[in-house]
Amino acid sequence: MRETSSVADTYSGSPGNIHSQLDVMGDPGRTGRYGEYGGRYVPEPLMAACLELENEFRLAWADDDFHNQLDSILRSYGGRPTPVTECGRLSERIGVRVLLKREDLAHTGSHKINNVTGQALLARRMGKNRLIAETGAGQHGVATATAAAFMGMECTVFMGEVDTLRQELNVFRMELLGANVVAVKSGSKTLKDAVNEALREWVSTCETTHYCVGSVMGPHPYPWIVRELQRVVGDEARDQCRQLLGGQDPDWVVACVGGGSNAAGTFAGFTDTSSNLVGVEAAGGAAITHGTPGILHGMLSNLLQDDTGQILEAKSISAGLDYPGIGPEHAYLASVGRARYESANDDEVVKAFCQLSELEGIIPALESAHAVAWVIREAGKVIPFGSTVLITLSGRGDKDVSQVRDILRKSKNDNEEGRVQVG
Ligand SMILES: Cc1ncc(COP(=O)(O)O)c(C=O)c1O
Repeated sequence: MRETSSVADTYSGSPGNIHSQLDVMGDPGRTGRYGEYGGRYVPEPLMAACLELENEFRLAWADDDFHNQLDSILRSYGGRPTPVTECGRLSERIGVRVLLKREDLAHTGSHKINNVTGQALLARRMGKNRLIAETGAGQHGVATATAAAFMGMECTVFMGEVDTLRQELNVFRMELLGANVVAVKSGSKTLKDAVNEALREWVSTCETTHYCVGSVMGPHPYPWIVRELQRVVGDEARDQCRQLLGGQDPDWVVACVGGGSNAAGTFAGFTDTSSNLVGVEAAGGAAITHGTPGILHGMLSNLLQDDTGQILEAKSISAGLDYPGIGPEHAYLASVGRARYESANDDEVVKAFCQLSELEGIIPALESAHAVAWVIREAGKVIPFGSTVLITLSGRGDKDVSQVRDILRKSKNDNEEGRVQVG
C-alpha cells in the first residue's frame, strides 16, 4: 500500500467516512474526503501544517480582497483569460468540431501558473517567504520559480534526476528565475520521488516554508485548493463555449491527466452540465484503468501497485504524466461515473503532437497531446461524428520539441525527410 522507506508516505488517521455527502466538485469538508478517497495521511509534524493551511485557505477563499488580488495578477501578469480556439482543419479531418482551451498561452506556457499564483499569495498571507515544489515536466517548477521571483520569495524545486535530463531546458529556466533545483536520485528518479523529497523537506521547514503542491494530489487540503485555483480554466471555458455555441455546452470535455489539475479545473466548470467529461491518462501511467486503492503522498487514491502494495513505476513519453497515482477526486468521479478515464499510448501521442502542429499551427505539450490523441482516435467511434468537443490544451510544446525530434528521427515509419505523415 505504501513505500515503507519514506517518511512522506507515513500516514495517520483512518479512511473512515466511506459515503460522505459530497457535492460533486464542491467543498470536501474538514476531512477532505471524496467518497472514500482523499483524506490526510501525514506524519504528526505535518498535521498542524495541513490544518493551518486549510484554515488560511478557507479564510482567503471567502475574502474578496484575496480574489481581487489573485484575479488582477492572473490578468495583468498571467495572461488570463486564455482564449478558446476553433480548430477548423482538424475538425474537418476527423469529423467532430474541436475547440481548444488555450492554457498554452498562459504565462510560462501552461495552466500551472493559475495554481502557483494562488498558493504564493496564500503563503505570503501566512507570513511564509519560502516556496518549495516538486516538478516532473518542469512546468510546475518553472511556474513556482516565476511566482517566487514575482513576489520576491525564496524557491527550491525538487526534480527527479531522470526528469532533469529529459527537461534540461526547464532546469535552466528555473535557475535563471533564481530557484535552487535539487536533482532527486532516489527510487525511479522521477516525479514520485520528487514529491517524497519535497514532503521530507516540508516536515523540517514548515514553520517558514510553504509547499506549493503542483496538482490535485497529496493530503487534504491540497487536492481541494489546487482544484479551486484551477477552476478558472473551466469557468472561463464554459462561458466562452456558450458564446461560440449559441448558449450550448460542448458534448464532450476532454483533458489530459497526470495528477489531474488541468482536468479537475476544467471539469469543475462543467459538472452541472450534460457534457461528457473525459480524462486521458498516459497508457503507462493509467492509475484509474490499471490502479487499485492505496495510500501514497498523504492521500488515499488509485495507485499503480503490485500485490504487496509496492508502488510500480509509471512509464510515459511525457514527464508530466509519469506519476503512478491520480488525484483522489478523479478516483471519486470515476467511481460514481460522472467522468470517464481513458488512455493514449506514446505512438498515438507523438502522432497527435505532429497533427495538431501541422493542421492548426499549435505545438502542444506532450501531456496535452494525450487528450488530442484520444479525440482523434475516438472521433466517429466513442465520440459520434458531428459532436462538439472541448479539449483543454494544458501547455505548449516548446519544452518537448527536441525530444520529439529525436523520436521521429528514430522512427521506422518516417518518410525520407524524417517527418511523420499526417492523417
Ligand atoms: C503542460 C502540462 N500538462 C499537464 C500536466 C499534468 O499535470 P495535471 O494532471 O496536474 O494537469 C503537466 C505536468 O507537468 C504539464 O506540464
